[in-house]
Formats: sequence, structure tokens, C-alpha cells
Amino acid sequence: MDLVKRPRRLRINSIVRDMVRETSLDIKDLIYPLFVVQGDNIKEEIDSMPGVYHFSIDLLIEEVKEVRDVGIPAILLFGVPSYKDKLGSEAYSEEGIVQKAVRKIKEKVPEIVVITDVCMCGYTIHGHCGIVENGQVLNDKTVDYIAKIALSHVEAGADIVAPSDMMDGRVAAIRKLLDSKGFVNTPIMAYSAKYASSFYGPFREAANSAPQFGDRKSYQMDYGNSNEALREIALDIEEGADIVMVKPALSYLDIIRRVKDNFNIPIAAYNVSGEYSMVKAAAKMGWIDEKSVVLEILTSIKRAGADMIITYFAKDVAKWFTTL
Ligand code: PBG
Repeated sequence: MDLVKRPRRLRINSIVRDMVRETSLDIKDLIYPLFVVQGDNIKEEIDSMPGVYHFSIDLLIEEVKEVRDVGIPAILLFGVPSYKDKLGSEAYSEEGIVQKAVRKIKEKVPEIVVITDVCMCGYTIHGHCGIVENGQVLNDKTVDYIAKIALSHVEAGADIVAPSDMMDGRVAAIRKLLDSKGFVNTPIMAYSAKYASSFYGPFREAANSAPQFGDRKSYQMDYGNSNEALREIALDIEEGADIVMVKPALSYLDIIRRVKDNFNIPIAAYNVSGEYSMVKAAAKMGWIDEKSVVLEILTSIKRAGADMIITYFAKDVAKWFTTL
């Protein structure tokens, strides 16, 4: 009798391999981030993120139509305001860039799910994710602003709000304010386990949101920690988060898996700007095959336990899938 165990039997050809495949990527898992700026007729590539652009609202609408047409269900919208102040007032203005963009998208492409990033760093002159006094990022005062920003996005038509500031208690504050205004059915996707990461570098160029002094380590998490991520997730669920997020994704696959094993709630993972730019740069040099590396990376994020992936590759993947 042959005592050799032969796992290779199930790798015999691609049909059999597909039959036993445990994880597969679907366009429906993907969320596409987009950056919107003031002005008209603007589509400007971001230097450190080839293939990612700043769009003015008119061209953003064309882009969103394309995103819908390739089958991507949702976008994550970031505003890049032309005006900044100490309180980040454009972030909650009815005439702010995000609010205007959301109204237009909902008018022209109502079926796309619009998720808005709720934060202050792109809107404040100091570039921190909250209200700064005496060099400190104040927690409770910021939370009031974050809730106000979220409400203004929902009033403009946002389907889901995604607070990314990492202040304590902001999910509860947003939920309470939205409920009090009758928006009981608007989900919150909380950036729950968001690490202080150097992988956000290219994004900060795109969003013009780098901190002007210090860093974000007093509010974003230390990358040496894993148990703390579970505590953050538990708190956000308790406060009313409907979807929790782990960010970045690739260096944090272990965190995604722990969250998956410990909680019963949809998990989003953010395949962030630095993860995107590294692949783009290596592919440009001819050192890796972009398409196969991207599919491997995104599948690994899903295999780790993510239910949905926010990725700048979403459009490419959707196109690859439809032309296979
Ligand atoms: C805003 C925010 C950041 C990202 C998403 N929302 C940057 C940061 O926290 O500095 C990063 C996204 C990316 O790198 O792709 N707080």
C-alpha cells in the first residue's frame, strides 16, 4: 500500500484546483478610494501613486460611472479642500468639497455606495486629526467635531460614514448624533485598529494631510501591539460600529485573522497607499508581475479574514476579471 500522502492529486490541473480553492476574490469585495478637489476639469495624477488622481467634481462623476460600470459596489471618498483653518471648518461645511461631491454623485450615480472618510487632518493647518490646543490633540472636543462632520456627510447623502481619526468615543458620538437626527439606518464603518504607519506616506501627499509637527502616535496604534487591537475593536462594536476596519492590511494580516476569530462582525481591511506604491514601483522596474502580485496580495487579505478590501487596485482588478 502506498503510504505517501499525495496532496498534489488536487493540484492536477486548474479545474480541480479551482474546485478546492478556499478563498476567491470577488469584485463585490472591493471598495475604491477616490480623492476630490475644488475646481473644474481637473484630473491630476498623484506623483507617488501612479494611476490615482485628484478629480474635480465634474470629472469625478465620470470616474464614478466607470467604477459602477466595472461592477465595484462602493467608493471611499476623501476631500482635499483648498482652504484649511485651525478647526478644519470646511470638513463640516454644507458647501465643503465632500458634501458637494456626495450630493452630485447621489444625483448622477445613485446606485453606488458612497462611504466618506470622516477626519480632520486634511482640513486643519496643523495636519492633525483633531482639535489642537497647546500642542496637544484634544480628544473629547475633537469627538464633537467628528460627529458634526459625519452628520454633514450623511445630510449630503453619504450611505456609510467611516471615522478615521482614532479619537476615543467617536463612534458612540456619531451614532448618537445620527440617531437624534433620524439617520438610524446609516451604518458606521469604524477605522478601529488603525496603526501609526509609515505606509500612509503617499496618501499624505495625495490628501495634503501630513502633520505639521510631531506625529500621530498619540492617537494611532503602536505596530508592536496586537491585543490592543482587539480592545479597540471591542470598544467600537460596543459603541455601535457596524463594520470594523484593520489598517494597513499587509503588515497586519495577523490582526485581521485575530479579529475574525474573536468577533462576529464584518471586517474591512485597508490596502493602503504605501502598499500600492511599492507594487507600482517594483512593477515599473520590471521586477515583479503587477497583475499576479496584486491578485496574490488581495487574496491573502481576504484569506486572513477580511470581508471587504479598500484598495487603489480595485478598478484594475475589476477590469482584469471582466476580460479574463
Ligand atoms: C486620515 C486617513 C489616512 C489614511 C486614510 N485616512 C492617513 C493618516 O491617518 O495619516 C491613509 C490611507 C492610505 O495610506 O492609503 N486620517
